[in-house]
Amino acid sequence: MSFTLPELTYSYDALAPYMSRETLEFHHDKHHLAYVNNGNNLLKGTEWEGKSLEDIVKGSYGKNAGLFNNAGQHYNHLHFWKWLKPNGGGAIPGNLEKAIVDGLGSVDKAKEDFIQAGVTQFGSGWAWLAVKDGKVIIAKTPNGESPLVHGATPILGVDVWEHSYYIDYRNRRPDYLKAFVDNLVNWEYVAELYEAAVK
Ligand SMILES: [Fe+2]
Repeated sequence: MSFTLPELTYSYDALAPYMSRETLEFHHDKHHLAYVNNGNNLLKGTEWEGKSLEDIVKGSYGKNAGLFNNAGQHYNHLHFWKWLKPNGGGAIPGNLEKAIVDGLGSVDKAKEDFIQAGVTQFGSGWAWLAVKDGKVIIAKTPNGESPLVHGATPILGVDVWEHSYYIDYRNRRPDYLKAFVDNLVNWEYVAELYEAAVK
């Protein structure tokens, strides 16, 4: 398969003031597009041509850095747009909430630890909620990595590359992470991924 840039399912203004039109225009139209184009070029002629995106990401990890970086970021961003929604961050669906409490102690603690993972990810990368061995865990990864290459299934990720927040928050990464958790997370989509992961 070749990579394609998905359309956003909300308008470029829909996430303001927490994530501005300008951020989405740069982040989606330029940064994500570059991962798509570079990934397609680097995929050509490799053993992973024709494989699913998840297989490309897992297969190229540690073997083909250029392809992995772009395919990994394509995978991460495909989900990232769906992890966001206008008026997000509300109630967490019951099953997922129970799993978060079981795995991480409480919803408040989980949100705190997720934010802390993003704050302490040195340089570019991502913070995650993931499912590993049936349990919800917190993780952080550098650059284009995700829990997918560490034996877990990502269910929520937040991009902490500067391109994700610098226009709106400058260097205030903690404020961006708090706004993401409180006002942007699409918990219904997180729950969907959780249910699929534990099936
Ligand atoms: Fe990004």
